[in-house]
Formats: sequence, structure tokens, C-alpha cells
Amino acid sequence: MTESLAAKHPELAGLEIPHHIAVIMDGNGRWAGQRGMPRIQGHFEGHKATRRCVEACVDLGVKVLSIYAFSTENWSRPVDEVEGLMELIEAALQEEIDDLDANDVRFVASGRLAELPQSLQRTIADSIARTADNQTMTLNVMINYGSRAEMVDAARALAQRVAEGQLAPADIDEQLFADVLYRSELPDPDLLLRPGGEMRLSNFMLWQIAYAELVVLPVLWPDFQIEHLKQAIVEYNSRRRRFGGIADTD
Ligand code: IPE
Ligand code: IPE
Ligand code: MG
Repeated sequence: MTESLAAKHPELAGLEIPHHIAVIMDGNGRWAGQRGMPRIQGHFEGHKATRRCVEACVDLGVKVLSIYAFSTENWSRPVDEVEGLMELIEAALQEEIDDLDANDVRFVASGRLAELPQSLQRTIADSIARTADNQTMTLNVMINYGSRAEMVDAARALAQRVAEGQLAPADIDEQLFADVLYRSELPDPDLLLRPGGEMRLSNFMLWQIAYAELVVLPVLWPDFQIEHLKQAIVEYNSRRRRFGGIADTD
């Protein structure tokens, strides 16, 4: 990290900031339930936590932040929660886009976006177009995202090219498969955060997190603070990433 960053965050001095952080934003419903509030209130508070997280990542020099906002399985929730979430995601994006743009953040989205409400699709497309040239950080918001759906879509894209005679099955390798995933230009996540305490992946980026370091945070997402992110970065720096090989220190 740079000297000015180290001065601002002394506990991170000398540490490596993960290039790509991915977050399974979980625990909104439990946060609301503990307070006797409707679940949607937890999602509203979750939005504030997301804002803190994005700001902190920009501040710390993270280059890519991927956040899981709505899964392909979340459609199975009660219709009022699903509708509330769709409205909240759209309103949050409209509210945040000026600040994202002012902070040089490029907005992208991943998922089966064509299945989302039309107005949300338009807001997403506008936000992508407006911030396309921004450089400081890429914010990848994953909406109607499921890793299995992503891999099925990738298989279909490759099968289509084979059927059209443009590709031989034997030419399909890991690189080509990765190239047809939703946001193939993004590097794989280095650090995966799961607030809410669950020790599972819930269909999130299964291909891309093959060698990510996993940190499960014992806080519900609405209670997330920058300190939790910093602690996770300290933890990340204590790990020895081997990628199947042998680390220098082994
Ligand atoms: C995560 O919070 C947000 C979404 C899945 C949209 P949850 O709504 O899953 O909260 P819990 O896990 O029930 O507490
Ligand atoms: C994962 O959380 C999905 C998002 C955070 C958007 P879930 O709450 O849907 O995951 P499960 O059901 O506990 O596995
Ligand atoms: Mg949950």
C-alpha cells in the first residue's frame, strides 16, 4: 500500500490490499427480525452497509469489488420481499450513481439481467454507460446472479459456436470457458467475505473463487463497518496462498 494510505490506516501499513474483493451481503433479514421489524427494513439498512463498504474499498485502493445483491434462488422468497428488493436495488442505484461517478467508480452488473423488471434494466444500462470510462475501481453488482446459471449460459454460448462450426470441442479450455462468463474482463476475486456467519457459498462465483481466501464475518450485513473490512485484510495477509504449489515460506 502507498505511504499516504499507511498514514491514514496505520494498522494496514505494509500489508497487501486485495485487488478484487467479493462480498456475499448476508444477514439483513435476521438483523430486522432481531428488532421486530419487517425483513425489508433490514435490506434498507443493508444498503447503508453497502455504501460504507464501497466507500472503504475506494479509500483503501481496492480495484474491483463484487457484491451479491440478489441470487437466482432469491425469487423463491415471498413476493412482497422480492418486489421490495427490486425497488430498493433500483432506488439505491439511482441514489448512488452521482457519487459513484464522482469517485471515478465504473459500475457493471452480472446476472441474468434480461429477467429483471424493465425499469431496473434501464437504470442498470444507464449506470453502466455513464461510468464506462471510470478507472479508480470497478463495482460489480450481481443481481439475479447464480453461479450455476452463469456456467449454463457459458456452456450454451460455447455450444452455439460449436454448432455454427466456429469452434471445435477440443479447443475448449479453462481460458476459453472463463472468457464466456458474465464479466470475463475482471480478474478472479482474491478475498471473499461472507458476513452473517454462514459457512457456505450459496451459488456465488463458484468458478472464479477457486483460489480466493474466504473470511466469514460474525456480523450481520447491516452491522458491517470499515473495521471489519480492515480486520479481514489483516487476516488475508496472514494466509499463505499456494495455488496448489509450494509457498516460499513452506
Ligand atoms: C441478504 O440478506 C440479502 C439478500 C439475500 C437479498 P438475507 O435477506 O438473506 O438475510 P438473512 O440471511 O435472512 O438474515
Ligand atoms: C446469498 O444469501 C444471496 C445474497 C446475499 C444475495 P442467501 O441468504 O440467499 O443464502 P442462503 O439461502 O442462506 O444460502
Ligand atoms: Mg441470507
